[in-house]
Amino acid sequence: MNKPEKISLADWNILLNKYPNDLEEILKKIESGYPIQYIIGNVDFFNSIIDIDERALIPRFETELLVQKTIDYINKIWQQKKINIIDLGTGSGCIAISLKKALNCNMTALDISNNSLELAKNNALKNNVKINFINRDMIIPFNKNFDVIVSNPPYIPDDGYVDASVLKYEPNLALFAKDNGLFFYKQIIKVHLSKLNKPGLMAFEIGDNQKELLEKFLNENYCLKYTFKKDFNNRYRYLFIFNE
Ligand SMILES: C[S@@+](CC[C@H](N)C(=O)[O-])C[C@H]1O[C@@H](n2cnc3c(N)ncnc32)[C@H](O)[C@@H]1O
Repeated sequence: MNKPEKISLADWNILLNKYPNDLEEILKKIESGYPIQYIIGNVDFFNSIIDIDERALIPRFETELLVQKTIDYINKIWQQKKINIIDLGTGSGCIAISLKKALNCNMTALDISNNSLELAKNNALKNNVKINFINRDMIIPFNKNFDVIVSNPPYIPDDGYVDASVLKYEPNLALFAKDNGLFFYKQIIKVHLSKLNKPGLMAFEIGDNQKELLEKFLNENYCLKYTFKKDFNNRYRYLFIFNE
């Protein structure tokens, strides 16, 4: 059987090994739009192998850059000092696990989806890292302080474009947010800023075209130092807020 164009050689080899007898059926599933990552069952993410299935959003490569930039800022601000980090909307646990591996920190990770949390807990075990997982809404105030709040929250506007296969197979809970997709950023800043230590850092992945709206929100409501950073496609996809 020939390798279809859209499947990489590495993935093709995995499929051949994993499904030697059902390859035709598997290829039909992929052709119909079912994510290959859910079929393979794991992804390489930053410094970790993350198991993945329909319980959580597939980790995206642009989120690896959020992790790298967050590590760079943390090393600059705190050097090797032990800090407390919380990951809001952890999904598969990819951000929390890779940060925990790379930094001297206590890591907390929360998600409103129990299904995602089960997967994230399993990923933490497999990656041999200790993370405190919590099942709750990310916009409920915490009862303790953190040095770093990191989040890749749902950010697609309710009427925003989403690829049909993403919409069909990935958890909708991970995708959409009210208020032009800005609901979670605004709420996280409003609700949790008072629980952010000084120095403190908020690190967000943001959607395409959200920079101007977020800039307006920050300038009109806060007096905070912040910066937007670009992804590999030269698009502003990250927001870092510094509590000084
Ligand atoms: C865009 S996904 C990010 C998942 C993962 N952090 C990543 O980067 O691949 C957003 C996550 O937020 C979770 N979520 C959605 N609404 C939430 C809420 N109100 N409180 C906590 N988590 C929420 C979803 O279940 C989902 O796992």
